[in-house]
Amino acid sequence: MRIALIGYGRMGHAVRDLAEARGHDVPVIVGEAHQHMAAEMFPETLRMADVAIDFSSAEAVCRNVEACMLAEIPIVVGTTGWSDEMSDITAIVQKSGGAMIFGANFSIGVNLFYKVAEYAAELFARFPDYEAFIEEQHHSRKRDAPSGTALKLKEVVEKHVTIGDIAATRAGNIPGTHRLGFDSAADQILLEHTARSRDGFALGAIKAAEWIVAKKGFYEFADVLDSISK
Ligand SMILES: NC(=O)c1ccc[n+]([C@@H]2O[C@H](COP(=O)([O-])OP(=O)(O)OC[C@H]3O[C@@H](n4cnc5c(N)ncnc54)[C@H](OP(=O)(O)O)[C@@H]3O)[C@@H](O)[C@H]2O)c1
Repeated sequence: MRIALIGYGRMGHAVRDLAEARGHDVPVIVGEAHQHMAAEMFPETLRMADVAIDFSSAEAVCRNVEACMLAEIPIVVGTTGWSDEMSDITAIVQKSGGAMIFGANFSIGVNLFYKVAEYAAELFARFPDYEAFIEEQHHSRKRDAPSGTALKLKEVVEKHVTIGDIAATRAGNIPGTHRLGFDSAADQILLEHTARSRDGFALGAIKAAEWIVAKKGFYEFADVLDSISK
C-alpha cells in the first residue's frame, strides 16, 4: 500500500517507521511548508498514494480532508482538537462519496478501555452513592485540552452516568494517561490507561488505513474496531 503522510512530527515519524516495517511505501510526506503549495497541487500530489494518514494540526484537518476527497483517496485522521467541525467534515466526505476514518486515539488498548468504561458506567449507574469523574494528563507539548480521548471517554460514560468537568494536566514528558474513577464515601474504584509509546497509536492508524483503503463512508475507529482487529 502507498501511504501519504500529512504532518511529519512525532506521530508522522512513528507511522512512517512502522508502515515501512510492515512493507508499505511512503511516497508522499506533507509537512507544514506544504500549506504554501498551490491548492490545486495538493490533491495532485496525494494521488501518488492509495491512502493518506493525517497527524498534523486541528486547523489543517478540513483542508486535508477536502484535498483527499478531490484526490479520490481515503483519509485516516488521527489529529485531534477539531470536534467543532465534525458535522462539516462528515458532510464533505459524504458529498464526495469518498472515505474517512477518524480516531481520537488509535491505540487498541484505549479502544478496549472505552468498552470497559461503558460497562463500568452502566454498573455504577445503579448505585447512586458513587460519583464518576475523568482525569487526563499529557506532556506539555500537547495543544488541545481536554484530550480528544478524554472527550470520547466522557461521551461513552455519559450514556449511563453524569461527568462534571474533565481535569486536564499538561506538564513535562507525561505519557498520555486517562483515568475514570467512581468515588463514594466508603471507597474509590479507579480504571486507568497509560500509553507507553507512540507505537500503539501508529499501529492502530496503519491498521485503519489497511482497512479503509477499499471502503466508502465516514467511520469512527472505536465503532469498527472489531472488524479492523480481525
Ligand atoms: N489519534 C491518536 O491516536 C493520536 C495520538 C497521538 C497524537 N495525536 C494527535 O495528532 C496530532 C499530531 O501530534 P504529534 O504529536 O505528531 O504533533 P507534532 O509533533 O507537533 O507534529 C505535527 C506535525 O504536523 C505538521 N503540520 C502542522 N500544520 C500542518 C499542515 N497544515 N499541513 C501539514 N502538516 C502540518 C507540523 O509541522 P511543524 O512542526 O512545522 O509545525 C508537525 O510536523 C495532534 O493533534 C495530536 O493530538 C493523536
